[in-house]
Amino acid sequence: MKHNILVRDKNKNRECFENKNLMDSLSKQSDLAPKGCHNGCCGVCKVIIHNGDYEKLKMNRKHISEVEENENTVLACRVFPKSDMEIEFIPRTKTNVEKDAFVFGK
Ligand code: FES
Repeated sequence: MKHNILVRDKNKNRECFENKNLMDSLSKQSDLAPKGCHNGCCGVCKVIIHNGDYEKLKMNRKHISEVEENENTVLACRVFPKSDMEIEFIPRTKTNVEKDAFVFGK
């Protein structure tokens, strides 16, 4: 079954199968999703789910805290749509990159 996924930060939508994770479906059109590992390791696909039902696999706690997960911030590569959805990718800013790596000049 397919569902319509609106990517708010791109103001575009795409139909996605519910048996495929959002990253696999959205990356077919490369401007809708960032490039990433597709297996929960890199954290580049962090999204806020604004609306819609979904199923999810276990989140990598390096990238998604329990509080974030409870507030519908998840990794798109670990999420399977079960209804139409509205999502928004969280851009990789200096602040959230600092958590993962040393930043020169700090
Ligand atoms: S694409 Fe790397 S964690 Fe989702």
